[in-house]
Amino acid sequence: MPTITFITAEGKQHAVTAEIGRSVMEIALEKSIPGVVAECNGSAACATCHCYFDPAFTEAIGPVGEHESDMLDFTAAPRRPESRLSCQVRVVDTLDGMTVRIPAMQ
Ligand code: FES
Repeated sequence: MPTITFITAEGKQHAVTAEIGRSVMEIALEKSIPGVVAECNGSAACATCHCYFDPAFTEAIGPVGEHESDMLDFTAAPRRPESRLSCQVRVVDTLDGMTVRIPAMQ
């Protein structure tokens, strides 16, 4: 299973093993990573699972969907090129070693 390291807005690192096929949001909640709220439980309707994904993994993560991109315009923290909704990113083998930064606000 790939290892993903979540980094909180305060800089605390949480390295976790992530089950393939789950969403990064599900992994964060399961591992009690602070700062991922996920109010809509993964329906891409709340933008409270917003995270900044390691740009080195952009290709492995895959492209931003049209609806996801629309929702990313409503994040509490600033949208950046590496912004994604963590509920829309599925864990695959090639994400091993990726870091995911959690914004200060959701
Ligand atoms: S959990 Fe609501 S948009 Fe991801």
